[in-house]
Amino acid sequence: MPPPLTRRRFLSATGLAALTAAGTPPALPAQPAHRPVAIASGNGLKAVTRAMELLQQGADALDAVIAGVNLLEDDPADQSVGYGGLPNEEGVVELDASVMHGPTGRGGAVAALQNIRYASRVARRVLERTDHVLLVGAGALKFARAHGFREENLLTDEAREAWLRWKETLSNLDDWLPPHELDTRDIGQGLKEALRHYGTINCNAVDVRGGVSGCTTTSGLAFKIPGRVGDSPILGAGLWVDNDVGAAGSTGRGEANLLACSSVMIVEWMRQGRAPTDACLQACRRIAAQTKMKRLLDAEGRPKFNVSFYALTKAGAHGGASLWGGMKYAVNTGEGESRLVDLAHLY
Ligand code: GLY
Repeated sequence: MPPPLTRRRFLSATGLAALTAAGTPPALPAQPAHRPVAIASGNGLKAVTRAMELLQQGADALDAVIAGVNLLEDDPADQSVGYGGLPNEEGVVELDASVMHGPTGRGGAVAALQNIRYASRVARRVLERTDHVLLVGAGALKFARAHGFREENLLTDEAREAWLRWKETLSNLDDWLPPHELDTRDIGQGLKEALRHYGTINCNAVDVRGGVSGCTTTSGLAFKIPGRVGDSPILGAGLWVDNDVGAAGSTGRGEANLLACSSVMIVEWMRQGRAPTDACLQACRRIAAQTKMKRLLDAEGRPKFNVSFYALTKAGAHGGASLWGGMKYAVNTGEGESRLVDLAHLY
């Protein structure tokens, strides 16, 4: 990571150094080189508010998005992220997260991380303090320990009770599939339910220097098979940033997005001139076309699950789309309060 943004660095980066009268701290530029913008998934209103506070103080976009998602990682009421996240099928919370820093073209990620609530900060540490991009499981935990992250039990009573209810009513709600021929598309309609709890927060931002960064962090699919990794920590799938173009990220059924690598595609479509919402809709169409297993489709051939995408350009245009309607994303453009905006949708 570049060093933190000191006042001197900020002045130099924004060209204000020359305007500084001795001993007089200058105000932030009335018209910064880039208009800061932060967007997030629909659970991220407070995340974009926090991110914007930092962006307006001249923070790097990576610092801003991580500080934003930390609020959700801390929140036991959000059962899709960090502390209080729903556990795997053995009752253990396993977290996935990724970060990307556009100005330096770097990324970091962790998967199946146990006992550390700030998966996003560990992902950032991978970016900053290793020559790797992705650490998983026991290795990720050891790395976090080495960097002084505090271990704790992430399972709240509410999440444990939800897990117990799931265990006590085990029926068609697990992820194990019976043996079947490779080319079969029907293992028994309704035998396995596709609708499950996928949470996650994705947050992307542009800072006043035009730096674009993003973060996606999650406890993943509720009651998953231990070791299951979704799209969130996979760069290109759950998050992608290109400092010349913008950023994209996702929430929803990670398995579908892992088979489409949508975030990198959305950024490439934006590079070709598509608006963020258009590019996100195209990703939804790809996922719909890619879904061929009968248990995942409704009577009209539409995916039974949802996936949502959020995209932001370097110039500050933003948008998003999901397969199914009724979803929103959070945005703060630095003018007024954070707000929720409807996602475009296929169905
Ligand atoms: N999109 C989050 C997950 O599937 O784990």
